[in-house]
Amino acid sequence: MNKAELEKLFLNLTEHSRKSNSDLPSFVDSKEVVNALSEVKREAWKKLLSSVASVEATEDDVLKPVAEFFNSEPVLKNYLQSHAQDEYFHAELFKGYVKETFSYVKTKRSLTDQLIYDRALPFLANRAQNRPIPFALAVLFYERYASFFYEKLKTQAAVDGLRGLVRLIEAVEKDERRHMIGIESVVHYIQLEKKIDFIDRVSTRSLLELLLVDVNQSRYAIYNRKVRRSMQAIGIDPDYICEKGKWSAKQVYSLMEA
Ligand SMILES: [Fe+2]
Ligand SMILES: [Fe+2]
Repeated sequence: MNKAELEKLFLNLTEHSRKSNSDLPSFVDSKEVVNALSEVKREAWKKLLSSVASVEATEDDVLKPVAEFFNSEPVLKNYLQSHAQDEYFHAELFKGYVKETFSYVKTKRSLTDQLIYDRALPFLANRAQNRPIPFALAVLFYERYASFFYEKLKTQAAVDGLRGLVRLIEAVEKDERRHMIGIESVVHYIQLEKKIDFIDRVSTRSLLELLLVDVNQSRYAIYNRKVRRSMQAIGIDPDYICEKGKWSAKQVYSLMEA
């Protein structure tokens, strides 16, 4: 696709994103359904879904350096803003669901969130100024990883009779499919103008390694022990999810070699 065709696509994608908080549907499951679950499962669902909300909210931090690069290109800037806004809405949807269904509100941020998103990420963003490729690819990594995770999450939600949650995940997945096309096209657009160089490669690798630390649910990542246990209680294999994380990072990294 050439530049004009890509811009048309971005206009189209922006048009399809949700416009405001007032469009936000609310998803909930009844107390009867929730009370039929074991105590362990109830705990696991509310903790895991709260972590999902945190990850959705932090995607904005990764999108920001890309959006800043396109400050003078309104079509791209608008698309990236609509994408960031969708992620914010996703976080709100999950938070709202957990609050309404499980009467739970997460208040503490995890240590990894504080280390990665408050310190390491701004540091890398500063270093990679005027280099949108590492961050655009990091967003693509999130999108691919999320598609595996949401598929498993949705299956287990259906097993536990959480129909409201299934509908919520389906709504989010619809957005994520659009994001995947959008962010791949952003990478394509950047490549039309600029060749990927050594610094792009090194920065992308560092950034992906950092995000893999965040989504590592293996038994060795003790800082993510609680997330691992929640997944197991719900019936999701954390090692499968972890493998898909690594696979997604590899796939995304290989796009630079193409
Ligand atoms: Fe999302
Ligand atoms: Fe997304």
